[in-house]
Amino acid sequence: LVHPVILSGGGGTRLWPLSRAEYPKQLLTLTGRESMLQATALRAAALPGAQTAIVVTSEEHSALVREQLAQAGCTPACICLEPQGRNTAPAIALAALHLYATDPDALMLVLPSDHLIEGQAAFEAAIAAASSAALHGWLCTFGVPPDEPESGYGYIEAGSVIAGQQDARHVNRFIEKPDLQTARGLLQAEGYFWNSGMFVFTARAFLEELGTHRPEVLDAVKRAWDGRSETAGFLHPQAAAFSACPSISIDYAVMQTTRRAAMVPARFAWNDIGSWHTLWRTLPKDTDNNSVTGDVVLADTQNSLIHAGHRLVSVVGIDNVAVIETADAVLVINKDKAQDIKDVVAQLQSSG
Ligand code: GDD
Ligand code: MG
Repeated sequence: LVHPVILSGGGGTRLWPLSRAEYPKQLLTLTGRESMLQATALRAAALPGAQTAIVVTSEEHSALVREQLAQAGCTPACICLEPQGRNTAPAIALAALHLYATDPDALMLVLPSDHLIEGQAAFEAAIAAASSAALHGWLCTFGVPPDEPESGYGYIEAGSVIAGQQDARHVNRFIEKPDLQTARGLLQAEGYFWNSGMFVFTARAFLEELGTHRPEVLDAVKRAWDGRSETAGFLHPQAAAFSACPSISIDYAVMQTTRRAAMVPARFAWNDIGSWHTLWRTLPKDTDNNSVTGDVVLADTQNSLIHAGHRLVSVVGIDNVAVIETADAVLVINKDKAQDIKDVVAQLQSSG
């Protein structure tokens, strides 16, 4: 029986200007009818034998998150609120400490809320295989066959099958967010997978590895957890202690260095809606490979993503571009540079 742990924090800055600090990407309806958070909660609830989910999100988005979950008919076991985002390692540690208190060997299924997944049966089979390995102390990832040199992902070099496990393999190397040149090399090399960003492990195994590799992170989160308070169905870790925690993702904090990493190949369709490029990849397209929403007029335009939110948008003679129009901001970006939007957002943040 796994405990889904849904991560709904992070700014989603690479989807600016649709994704905003006060309304980040996982709460947007970008594909389909539900928000990505709702789709994740429904996917978790549909797993056979899944416990009710634990949701870790920011204090700022608590009301929206609860409202969206209720709308989708999902009542989480617990909503844990971070006073400030400290990235995924501390967020997962909060959920792990919560579960550890009642069952140190509780199985956690960590689910980011920015994924599109198709093929529920294959998804369930992969989780079953990962759960079996996790019960033997492995920290299990899901490996997606790469088809692009994407520098926004982690890369896994898969090794031999783990003795006694059907579908789980050793991880020889884990490389988080390589530069583009390295990513190109890894795409050519044999035996590399993308890290899907979902994980299965026991609370005990994760906390042990975090404590080994990043004791300062575990200590800070423990202090915050011990000083927690509770209001109307929300858990609040102690703010000062949590804010003192270093900001670091699970990939850098644990997965790159642990010797207990394992990988189950993902045989389901998977997409991370992390950038305008990846969103374009997943959306339906016209015969010129354009994906268009809103009031848009195109001429001689190919391979582009055009979003008109409030005004008529017209585009002539361009290729491979995303044009995102909102009430107060317009972005025009080369889709190949979709990761570089972080630089623009950083400039906006520093200029207030
Ligand atoms: N609660 C909480 N708090 N959630 C967070 C925080 C935080 O501080 N920061 C990020 N998240 C959530 C995001 O909302 C998202 O659902 C998930 O954690 C992953 O964060 P991203 O910021 O989207 O990570 P990434 O996409 O750059 O990289 C990760 O995912 C890739 C695949 O999607 C890594 O695990 C990569 O290795 C992986 O390839
Ligand atoms: Mg992501």
